[in-house]
Amino acid sequence: QWTPGKIIEDAVARIRHDVGTERVILGLSGGVDSSVAAALIHRAIGDQLTCVFVDNGLLRLAEGDQVMATFAENLGVKVIRVNAEERFLAALAGESDPERKRKIIGGLFVEIFDEESSRIQDACWLAQGTIYPDVIESAGAKTGKAHNIKSHHNVGGLPEHMKLKLLEPLRELFKDEVRSIGEELGLPHQMVWRHPFPGPGLGVRILGEVKKEYADILRQADAIYIEELYSSGHYHKISQAFAVFLPVKSVGVMGDGRTYEYVVALRAVETKDFMTAGWYPLPYEDLARISGRIINEVKGINRVVYDISSKPPATIEWE
Ligand code: XMP
Repeated sequence: QWTPGKIIEDAVARIRHDVGTERVILGLSGGVDSSVAAALIHRAIGDQLTCVFVDNGLLRLAEGDQVMATFAENLGVKVIRVNAEERFLAALAGESDPERKRKIIGGLFVEIFDEESSRIQDACWLAQGTIYPDVIESAGAKTGKAHNIKSHHNVGGLPEHMKLKLLEPLRELFKDEVRSIGEELGLPHQMVWRHPFPGPGLGVRILGEVKKEYADILRQADAIYIEELYSSGHYHKISQAFAVFLPVKSVGVMGDGRTYEYVVALRAVETKDFMTAGWYPLPYEDLARISGRIINEVKGINRVVYDISSKPPATIEWE
């Protein structure tokens, strides 16, 4: 019987056997897979694991603090937090092409991760939250079967000189198994059941050039949207929901005056495999409440629109 407890027990034994007394580093993103991998490896080898969490400034509201609270404070995992917002924003300045933005973000992540891990004495393992569908997908990519519309591989491979052995304890597991062992390992329900979040983060949810001002506005709008989806019970019926920042200004009216502010688009989709997706029919009263809150509470936004496009022909993300 494959209970979560049994999967954990076997994985812990295998990790201890493979790693012995050596040191392991892991790039923690706050996503489900790297989080569960971190908790599992920590259960197996404790302080031999060091996690590197790169805050690229493109995370959601308070996300960095939540990652630190969950891992460092609650689970006692060693986590190095790197505040790299300025480096990412500087590297992205002036760039508005989606694919080039992805490459810049992925490339800089590798560079920073490399810098940090070279400071960790005698690390010889690199842990990753690769799960079974990733293994299948990258096999498909090698044989040319995968149709890559966007370059989703967030980390373009680590530099040669790192020469680390790979530790991938989730390689044989499906997403639902990963989630159930995550809960069993004591990760918060909200973290384990979160919608997917792309590696380039808000970098591909701010259309065109990324600026701190835009990211700050988007974070606030997105947080209100997600909070309302939780409280109205829609969050877990939706496969993925998020706000998108549109760098265009439209005219509005407030009191006696005209406003000229940015637009936020709300996206919510239902999908089984993320290859095709339908837009989620959020009831009018929920849309009205969310739009009202965003416009009232977020300075810089005077218009909210709801995305009613399916995939295909639209993609889930706007970039
Ligand atoms: P699209 O927009 O291609 O998205 O319909 C399908 C799924 O992939 C996610 N996505 C990404 N994930 N890095 C990622 O890790 C990326 O660059 C990226 N682009 C899209 C998207 O959020 C959705 O779940």
